[in-house]
Amino acid sequence: MKVGVIMGGVSSEYEVSMNSGREILKNLDPNKYEVTPIVITKREELIEQAKGIDIALLALHGAYGEDGTVQGTLETMGIPYTGSGVLSSSICMDKDLSKKLMRCSGVNTADWLCWDSMKDYSQEAVEQIGYPVMVKPCSGGSSIGMEKVSSSEELLSAVQKAFACDQSILIESYIRGQEITCSILNGEMLPVLGITSAHAEWFDYSAKYEDGGADERVIKLPAEVYERVRDAALTCYKALKCSVYARVDMLIKDGIPYVLEVNTLPGMTKASLLPKSAQAAGYTFSGLLDEIISLSLT
Ligand code: DAL
Ligand code: MG
Repeated sequence: MKVGVIMGGVSSEYEVSMNSGREILKNLDPNKYEVTPIVITKREELIEQAKGIDIALLALHGAYGEDGTVQGTLETMGIPYTGSGVLSSSICMDKDLSKKLMRCSGVNTADWLCWDSMKDYSQEAVEQIGYPVMVKPCSGGSSIGMEKVSSSEELLSAVQKAFACDQSILIESYIRGQEITCSILNGEMLPVLGITSAHAEWFDYSAKYEDGGADERVIKLPAEVYERVRDAALTCYKALKCSVYARVDMLIKDGIPYVLEVNTLPGMTKASLLPKSAQAAGYTFSGLLDEIISLSLT
């Protein structure tokens, strides 16, 4: 079977994607697959390079990759691809829309505002939510362009920074709690990982990807909390129409989970969380890739 590993892309998560792609290339079983790395740095490069592959293994993250556009191109070309479809990918990439659907589905998520331009800027609106807040691009990833804002004096620069990354931004109530992540494979939740950032106050880019940036390990939650977490993760996965696999990030405060977001193409780097969680469930990296490929073809 010819597997094209699509990596790189045009989003701010280019480097992360390259690292996901490299790790995937290292772990695809050469006895099972004829593997072609497809590194794209421009949108139009995909169409030529993807011709002739049996499946596209998507190692892309962020815009034009995780947001349904590449998925749509591959659908048009008749090439199967790994992970969620066009609609789910688009919805999950948009934190405002996905949080609205979470609320509609009874899933707890922090209060937020979504601004589409500087015309929406309002100190009063943020004061109603109450500081601290997290300011983030609406469709970003890997914490790029994201800031914690503790007072009105810090708001403007954080808002400008987020708008430099995206056309819409989120101002979200800051939840001080235990950060966790729930990986889902084929509709089942894998072991929950707890995350403790080593130096940063929250799980920022360096905590995510630098060696020793964070301690991430399987945690045992009290049964009642575990059930709430599992229910929130699986409800999100279903409500946002995910398929094959996804990773749902949350914060737990006073035993209550608050969902941050759903990642339809979660990181697959050496430091990434879904492969760690899958490993705790008994999957090797290669076995995880086999499973993702096989589920994506059925
Ligand atoms: N956005 C990064 C790749 C992640 O969620 O793992
Ligand atoms: Mg993300």
